[in-house]
Amino acid sequence: MVLPIFKGTVRAPNNSLNGLGRVQRSLVKEALSSDGFDGKIGKTMKIWTPGCNIILVGMGIRDALDHNKARDTGARVIASMEKKKGLEVTVRFTSGWPGERMLDFAEGMMLRDYEFLEHQEVEDEHVTDPWKVCFQASPRHQDRLKMGLGRVGAVVKGVHIARNLGNEPANVLYPMEFARRAVDWSENKSNVHVEVYDWEKLLDLGMGGLVNVGKGSERKPCMVLFTLNPDKDEGVRRPCIVGKGITFDTGGISIKPSNGMWDMKYDMCGAATVFGLMEALHSSGYENRVNGIACLAENMPGSGAYRPGDVFTTYSGKTVEVFSTDAEGRNVLADGLWKAGELDPDYIIDLATLTGAIVVALGNQISGMWSNDEVLAKRLMEAANSCGEEVWRMPLNKQFRKYMTDSAFADIRNGSIGGRAGSSNSAASFLEFFVPNRDFDEDSEKIPWAHLDIAGTAWGPGSKARSESANPLFQYGTSGVHVRTLHKMITGE
Ligand code: BES
Ligand code: MN
Ligand code: ZN
Repeated sequence: MVLPIFKGTVRAPNNSLNGLGRVQRSLVKEALSSDGFDGKIGKTMKIWTPGCNIILVGMGIRDALDHNKARDTGARVIASMEKKKGLEVTVRFTSGWPGERMLDFAEGMMLRDYEFLEHQEVEDEHVTDPWKVCFQASPRHQDRLKMGLGRVGAVVKGVHIARNLGNEPANVLYPMEFARRAVDWSENKSNVHVEVYDWEKLLDLGMGGLVNVGKGSERKPCMVLFTLNPDKDEGVRRPCIVGKGITFDTGGISIKPSNGMWDMKYDMCGAATVFGLMEALHSSGYENRVNGIACLAENMPGSGAYRPGDVFTTYSGKTVEVFSTDAEGRNVLADGLWKAGELDPDYIIDLATLTGAIVVALGNQISGMWSNDEVLAKRLMEAANSCGEEVWRMPLNKQFRKYMTDSAFADIRNGSIGGRAGSSNSAASFLEFFVPNRDFDEDSEKIPWAHLDIAGTAWGPGSKARSESANPLFQYGTSGVHVRTLHKMITGE
């Protein structure tokens, strides 16, 4: 039994000990009245009794409990429990708990309850059966808690799908395999539509970004177009979310050093978030139309690969001079963003593990955010903050635009004349160049757009240092970042 307790609690809250035996009750009471347990946030005390392991969990000062503290504490609690000792858990929210915070706590537990054991034999004692968790609260909270838990569970399912995709190695998950899984996912769902633009179709359409990045690999590139509720909102502008899906990024001819290259199986986390978001929206019963576009390619060197100095034409008709074949994310997104414009969306948000420089600038817990629209930027930032998936606004300006568009040989170059200086910003201004104006009309404004660079936040820093495991919501591998942010932003819940 998990008993989350606020700081300063010296007596067991009302009803908190119901159902416990005499000895158990007195142990809890004594622990609370002693200084052995002070309710400080994150502090726990485990009281073993026959038949029930009681875990007191410190929640800190009640009025200071926010979304993030509640969620992180829930995650730490589940991380500290072992399935070997039994799967049945009761979480008893005592009086004084605000309803919303209960959901945050539960969300933290569910998010952290994840492992990726697809390709390994597990030890005999390892229990894979699911936890059976019962959340208890006073009667006045119960209806909302029940509904809320259904929603939270659905969204977390989407996060876990995004993580699964990210954690798959690149030999298993290549572009057309991602597409196959998307089609598979859409089958038996009457209100989702998935369309795949395969190699031939990309050539037909002139999607030069995808074609050029992907042509060096035997695993051919593709674009996956998701539509949730395709029959709804005809003539109404709805969101479109675009993701970078490089299933492996060797750098291509501008090959990366081998040190750390294995990370590059995660270079499709933007596309994974799009897929996970679609699942989250679908399984939480969202009823409006939402579009998602995943731009998939494997960036490999080879005799058929594109090279530095090449000039190719993107889907937009604009040409790109290749400065580095390793700046491939922006090339595939150029096609995705232009395609998004054809859907006449309310706004476009793209997600990409785009630049190493954003990891240097913002670290592993904050995504970079660029936007051409103040209202959109604000909404996105608010949703992200309340989900504990922080974003930090970064600049789009003339200088960075100039850095990219000064090519002598094409409309734009995929590398900056500023070199590494502000290279996450110049990457963003490259993308901005491919955000269409409303109705593709020269005289109208660009469609509201935001770009999230998730190169630092999409996966954990591994086991480099203890201080880096600051995020309790996942243990290793990919985070599934921004599935929750976008779900919240789109549904408002
Ligand atoms: N996928 C990488 C970005 C990346 C680097 C993500 C490290 C996560 C960790 C991207 O395709 C890339 O290679 N970017 C280059 C851009 C440069 C060639 C202009 C970079 O960041 O160095
Ligand atoms: Mn690259
Ligand atoms: Zn990349």
